[in-house]
Amino acid sequence: DNISGIRQIKAYAAEQVELSRFNRFSDLLRAASLRMMKWWALYSPGMSFVRMTGYVLVLAAGGAAAMRGELTPGDLTKFWLFLSLFYDPIDRLNSLNQMLLSGRAAADRVFEILDAEEEQNSTTGAELPATLTGHVRFDNVSFSYQEQPTLHGVTLEARPGETIALVGSTGAGKTTVLSLLARFYEATAGMITIDGIDTATLAKSSLRDRLAYVTQEPFLFNGTVRENLQLAKRDATDADLWNALQAAHAEAFVRALPSGLDTNVGERGVKLSGGEKQRLSIARALLKNAPILLLDEATASVDSETERQIQDALDRLMENRTAFVIAHRLSTIQNADRIYVLEKGNVIEQGTHSTLLTRNGKYAELCRKSFLAADPSNT
Ligand SMILES: Nc1ncnc2c1ncn2[C@@H]1O[C@H](COP(=O)(O)OP(=O)(O)O)[C@@H](O)[C@H]1O
Ligand SMILES: [Mg+2]
Repeated sequence: DNISGIRQIKAYAAEQVELSRFNRFSDLLRAASLRMMKWWALYSPGMSFVRMTGYVLVLAAGGAAAMRGELTPGDLTKFWLFLSLFYDPIDRLNSLNQMLLSGRAAADRVFEILDAEEEQNSTTGAELPATLTGHVRFDNVSFSYQEQPTLHGVTLEARPGETIALVGSTGAGKTTVLSLLARFYEATAGMITIDGIDTATLAKSSLRDRLAYVTQEPFLFNGTVRENLQLAKRDATDADLWNALQAAHAEAFVRALPSGLDTNVGERGVKLSGGEKQRLSIARALLKNAPILLLDEATASVDSETERQIQDALDRLMENRTAFVIAHRLSTIQNADRIYVLEKGNVIEQGTHSTLLTRNGKYAELCRKSFLAADPSNT
């Protein structure tokens, strides 16, 4: 599961710790597969040899006996057939080969990832000052995935403490904007600054230390609640954890888990609902207490009580921080200081909820189509 969580690990700048953990287990795996392969290299030709020798012996001894008249051809044929029955269970050991092959295929995938180019400059570069106001600017930023131009001269600004909403149809480039800010990719043109410092000059670790990223798919590792939260703050005490859980409206359900903070909530642990996972990832972001928040809001439908709790947790998360939110809930967007509407990688409109509605452009259309209909509290 940690492979799909790479972005979360990076966003929490926990790569070093996770990397050494991963390397240790990969080494164990490699040693085990090598032992298996060596054994197989001996076993497979060895078995063929023994098997063929058996046939040759039966044929030679039996053939000679038959010619001397001590054995009828029918008895020889019986022997021949019994011999193949005898080999049958041994043949089944061949299925071991299948297992080994599939194991190797899985190992190959792991090695592919291990061999993938390590992210450049993740710890080299300038450091951000200890205190940030959180003033973020995108200045004419363009970006292409491979050859595909995705963002075209995007200019936007979040002043300290502001909440900026990004809206637009699927594929407009909203997630890409957040990815560039976290430097999962590098802009091909233009500049992104934080407090006037060009982020391209920064060590990625220093940059990501100051960002809390809540992804669209709330991601939990295969581990306990405690481990999942401590990713954001290694030395967090239980009191810290409970405070964050409480603020994220996650305290009640965590207390109800079989072993509380020590309950495994990963793939092999208890199943949490989408809303519960979301609140845990909000708690994790709260714990990180970073000055800049990136939030890719999930579209998952939850009941209205859960919705209210999540909204409340998000409001707390956005308090006193500069926040970029890709919002789907009208309630989040309405309260934003500024809304940027993206279409095909361009910012086509910007302003507050009411100015954009008055303008009666793309934003107004998006509102009519999705948000307004989905939110009965809006009149
Ligand atoms: N990792 C990627 N590789 C290639 N193309 C991508 C990748 N991620 C997104 N895209 C493409 O870039 C465009 C913008 O995607 P995205 O930023 O995810 O949009 P949004 O979040 O607004 O739905 C889409 O056309 C999408 O197909
Ligand atoms: Mg997206």
